[in-house]
Amino acid sequence: MSTGRLIRGHLPWRALFGALALLCALELHAAALPERIAVATAHPAATVAGQETLALGGNAFDAAVAISAALAVVEPYGSGLGGGGFFLLREAGVSPTYRFLDARERAPLAAHADLYKVDGEVNKQLSLNGALAAAIPGLPAALVQLAERFGRLPLRDSLAPAIRLARSGVSIDRVYRERAGWRLEAMRSDAETARLFLEKGDIPEQFSLLRQPELALTLEQLAAQGHQGFYGGKVAETLVQAVQAAGGIWSLKDLAEYRIVERQPLRVQLDQGRELISAPPPSAGGIALGQSLLMLQQLPWQQVDAVQRTHLVVETLRRAYRDRGLLGDPDFVNNPAAQLLAPDYLKQLTSSIDPQHATPSDSLPPSRAWKEGDHTTHFTVLDTEGNAVAATLSVNLPFGAAFTVPGTGVLLNNEMDDFAADIQGSNAYGLSGSQANSIAAGKRPLSSMSPSFIESPEDFASFGTPGGSRIPSMVLLAMLEYLDQQPIDHWPSVARYHHQFRPDLIEHEPDTFSAAQRAALNALGHQLKSTERQYGNQQVLFWDKQDGHVEAASDLRGIGTSAVRIR
Ligand code: GLY
Repeated sequence: MSTGRLIRGHLPWRALFGALALLCALELHAAALPERIAVATAHPAATVAGQETLALGGNAFDAAVAISAALAVVEPYGSGLGGGGFFLLREAGVSPTYRFLDARERAPLAAHADLYKVDGEVNKQLSLNGALAAAIPGLPAALVQLAERFGRLPLRDSLAPAIRLARSGVSIDRVYRERAGWRLEAMRSDAETARLFLEKGDIPEQFSLLRQPELALTLEQLAAQGHQGFYGGKVAETLVQAVQAAGGIWSLKDLAEYRIVERQPLRVQLDQGRELISAPPPSAGGIALGQSLLMLQQLPWQQVDAVQRTHLVVETLRRAYRDRGLLGDPDFVNNPAAQLLAPDYLKQLTSSIDPQHATPSDSLPPSRAWKEGDHTTHFTVLDTEGNAVAATLSVNLPFGAAFTVPGTGVLLNNEMDDFAADIQGSNAYGLSGSQANSIAAGKRPLSSMSPSFIESPEDFASFGTPGGSRIPSMVLLAMLEYLDQQPIDHWPSVARYHHQFRPDLIEHEPDTFSAAQRAALNALGHQLKSTERQYGNQQVLFWDKQDGHVEAASDLRGIGTSAVRIR
């Protein structure tokens, strides 16, 4: 009797261990490690910084520190120590661990819902330009945490390329000049920003040298003292004094309290054994991607012609962007992520798509309009153990708030503008959206940034781009190229179009559609509007886990580079 019980008691364990051992053996056998490292970033100097760090013996997380810091120096218009971002990590293992580091900027403790109202009206200038527009930066904390928790190299080694670039200078390129052109007026109105980033009040000449010795010193403080090197001591005092003197509301407590939040990445099972791993709230991007992909799985998007495919993708985007109005910082609001991704709900949304007619956005229950900053940066890196990072970093608009703190070289973000500053105004589009993303002390503004992976037993792919509210649609289009088994160069270069529920129109790059395709989309009931210029700057990589083959690609719209090398 007791033997019988023993046998009955042990059999399941033996079977379980056996099955686990078999699974491990299969997994180890199935997943060939990456035979090369891969890096793709928005700037050649940042791609080199990543490679150098890997060559020094660093892993993908050390490389992510080096790349982020280098981007902060060479793309001051896109990201920086005065900004924040999201880091999606894949820690290698028989079954990998995914992590999401939320380094999003946080509203100062003195912030409140009416912060930007003057005589009852929101003054947009205040949330866009100058010290009051800046939220508490997250990037320095992320660099320290990445290095200390996940890296192999001391922070000073990973920060060395950025310090060198800041001190010796970088060449002004066409993207810098274009972005400075967009923000020239705001940059001219801050003496330190104009001194550092303009040339006698004008856009610097191409190939002239941008030197940032003060930023080099701030990076050295971070390298020497870690978190305290930015959020405490002299640097913190200098930041707070300058912000307050310019009408901002930062306090030393704001900086002392700032912490990275590690959140569960958003994980969505797709068909054919694939999984989407993406950004959870306070990003709205991951949920929009999950919803769009799950809706498209129920639709014949791969079997129809280009016009029908655009129609189906647009209709899924319309519905996904409508739901974004419900989302906000998870530390302040309950985000209905599970409901928005529930099969029954998505079935109902998909069944409302008419293959022959555009659904007017007004006929769907309303949400709010979305307008987020359109500059940011993205990079991705993979090491030969299978550790990987996809990170989207931002200061919001190009050159952020165009406010630089003298003595630090730190250009501050204007991420406060990503909040819904005007609850009344947003009511016309849906109160719930505005409430979820209203300004509050210590809250993180909702973001579109969507660093994402798709992984299956066969392969691993990494996606992401800057581009404000168009980020999720750009990432989706790249993912569809991957799902369609197109060469990796196609993923970032695919011609872009976008629908965000309101305004109710398809925005598209100038060359996305032929005249006949535009006419056919009009006939389905879609309004079209050219963006007049290309947009986005996607960086992608791919690892074939069956043979270890690795590829990477940078968007040809930017000046970024990708590299696949033996370490
Ligand atoms: N600031 C752009 C975004 O977070 O979506």
